[in-house]
Amino acid sequence: MTVDDAIEALSPQALKMIKNNFVIGLGSGRAATAIVRLLSSHIKKTKFSVKAIPTSLQIKMEAERGQIPLIEADQINHIDLVFDGADQIDASGNMIKGGGGALLREKILISIADKVVIIADESKFVKKLNRSVPVEVHPFARKITESQIRKIGGNPHIRLLDRGYPFMTENGNVILDCDFGQIRNPKELATKIIEIPGVIEVGIFSKPDIIYKVKENGKYEIV
Ligand code: A5P
Repeated sequence: MTVDDAIEALSPQALKMIKNNFVIGLGSGRAATAIVRLLSSHIKKTKFSVKAIPTSLQIKMEAERGQIPLIEADQINHIDLVFDGADQIDASGNMIKGGGGALLREKILISIADKVVIIADESKFVKKLNRSVPVEVHPFARKITESQIRKIGGNPHIRLLDRGYPFMTENGNVILDCDFGQIRNPKELATKIIEIPGVIEVGIFSKPDIIYKVKENGKYEIV
């Protein structure tokens, strides 16, 4: 049994939230991919007319493979439901996201969604957030932002690809992965970071509506 089996097990319940004519936001990463595959067969079976908005090329290609109808974010002003994953989740439901670099688009879709459903494996759950926070930064402000992040107690590292090239987001920006140690007040920290000129988005997200914790034994629970 695997995490994918657990996602399959929770999918009847999660997909039941979808109604005809829904606009659905698709997060990026492994958990989002697993649910997109199940979503594809669900909409074929129900013949529901839904439109999906992908947050990255990765999930867009997955949705295309599943023949899920897509719509551009700039054509809508409302989202019914978002399915997404997370990199870390604390005991209050605060999350760190952006491991794949899609934090800006994920934050935008989540901010206007009626319902946000997060699926994450049990290794992502901690009492307090403590992994590095992805911060999307305009390349013009790379060095300046690094020093501003240090001033508020962070240790920034520019995200690099294998051969040392900088990782560029789909919005043409760089990512600073910023270590703040254990984060006592995620909301306060997110506000401090977003106030730094040059910062485009911060990978700290507040509590979603539903969190599915999935386990390697193929089981899941709602937390
Ligand atoms: C994408 O940038 C992220 O926010 C993902 O949602 C997050 O990294 C979780 O991805 P996995 O489901 O692949 O762990």
